Amino acid sequence: VQVKRPQSSLLVSSVRLEHDYFRYHPMPEITDWMWLMVKDHPDLVTVVDYGRTHENRTISLLKIGLDTGLKKKAVWMDCGIHAREWIAPAFCQYFVRQILQTSKTDPKMELMMKNLDFYVTPVFNVDGYVYSWKDNTVSTRLWRKNRSASPPGCDCQGTDLNRNFDSNWGTVRVSSDCCSNRYGGTGPMSEPETQFLTYFVGSRKDDFLCFLTIHSYGQQLLFPYGHPNFTASNYAELMEVGLAAAEAIQEAHGMIYEVGTPSDILYSFSGSSQDWAHMVGIPLAFTFELRDNGTFGFELPEDLIQPTCEEAYSGVLHIITYAHDKAFSAAAPAATAAAAAIWTVLFAAGTTTVSLM
Ligand SMILES: *[C@@H]1O[C@H](CO)[C@@H](O)[C@H](O)[C@H]1NC(C)=O
Ligand SMILES: *[C@@H]1O[C@H](CO)[C@@H](O)[C@H](O)[C@H]1NC(C)=O
Ligand SMILES: *[C@@H]1O[C@H](CO)[C@@H](O)[C@H](O)[C@H]1NC(C)=O
Ligand SMILES: *[C@@H]1O[C@H](CO)[C@@H](O)[C@H](O)[C@H]1NC(C)=O
Ligand SMILES: [Zn+2]
Repeated sequence: VQVKRPQSSLLVSSVRLEHDYFRYHPMPEITDWMWLMVKDHPDLVTVVDYGRTHENRTISLLKIGLDTGLKKKAVWMDCGIHAREWIAPAFCQYFVRQILQTSKTDPKMELMMKNLDFYVTPVFNVDGYVYSWKDNTVSTRLWRKNRSASPPGCDCQGTDLNRNFDSNWGTVRVSSDCCSNRYGGTGPMSEPETQFLTYFVGSRKDDFLCFLTIHSYGQQLLFPYGHPNFTASNYAELMEVGLAAAEAIQEAHGMIYEVGTPSDILYSFSGSSQDWAHMVGIPLAFTFELRDNGTFGFELPEDLIQPTCEEAYSGVLHIITYAHDKAFSAAAPAATAAAAAIWTVLFAAGTTTVSLM
């Protein structure tokens, strides 16, 4: 059980180690880092505890933005819904550092800090993440689900939180076998983690311009819907924004990210957080599947953290800038149906099949 760390415990330590953004960090170090962000940028950053896990750990986010006294729009980002995808929490930390640094030097980011609040959860599935650090065996390091007790009549623990949302729950590529890695739980939102996110985002849903959830691996930008029988009303816009983000990613280090709905480029599945976010009306919902595309899989070496974060940042920044400009400038960029046609030509031939990201 994790006790909430008072801010002062960090302030008393006189030795302040530099946080190394290009290593993986266990949960206590990430919690320390969150308080370091508050200490370094008290004008912009606060910690918000918004839930508790099955094992009673706190789920916390960093709220980042300038308090203007006005009602603001917001951006959601969560990392680490799947425990073993360690590059995702590493990306959330990098993202936070970048927006804080550039807010001092880049007028555009300064403006976005005035108009937007960024809600960033560096580790959403805290129990699973802690478990994945427990020892170096495959059964812990490659743990995906939460750590819930097994339901009656079954011996396995844990629910796949990204199959547990109330978005056509339990209908497509989800398992009712609790031993499966894609076990969806006993019902929609059966898991406390899912309930807390649903409540926190749902109660502010009109403020959120975009909902970004960060996973690995596969080098893909996915958008709603994972269910094959639904098409987002703004499919063309999502495709256009996603393609431009993928282009920005490619410009960084040459990596190719595919763009499309899960049904287009991966496999259909229901009950995901991105589908839920879009269903409640958040227009720009994206799932990032970061590097790589199969060589190291979930165990991406630490020397690849930096390029992976740099390219993903370019992609995320494109989406956020688009969302910001659409909401705050009169001449909003228009989506074109042409983007979808281009996608078909560029990517339809190269679909890869990787499972369970
Ligand atoms: C969970 O943790 C909180 C805070 O430490 C504590 O107040 C609460 O009693 C705990 N709940 C359970 C069920 O252990
Ligand atoms: C995980 O899943 C179970 C049900 O399978 C649920 O009861 C539990 O509260 C969930 N959360 C965690 C962290 O285990
Ligand atoms: C999708 O729609 C078709 C045709 O109505 C139906 O047969 C099928 O069961 C639906 N698929 C799902 C997963 O609901
Ligand atoms: C993996 O990504 C690299 C870099 O984008 C690309 O060159 C390669 O073709 C991809 N491999 C597969 C199997 O998609
Ligand atoms: Zn995942």
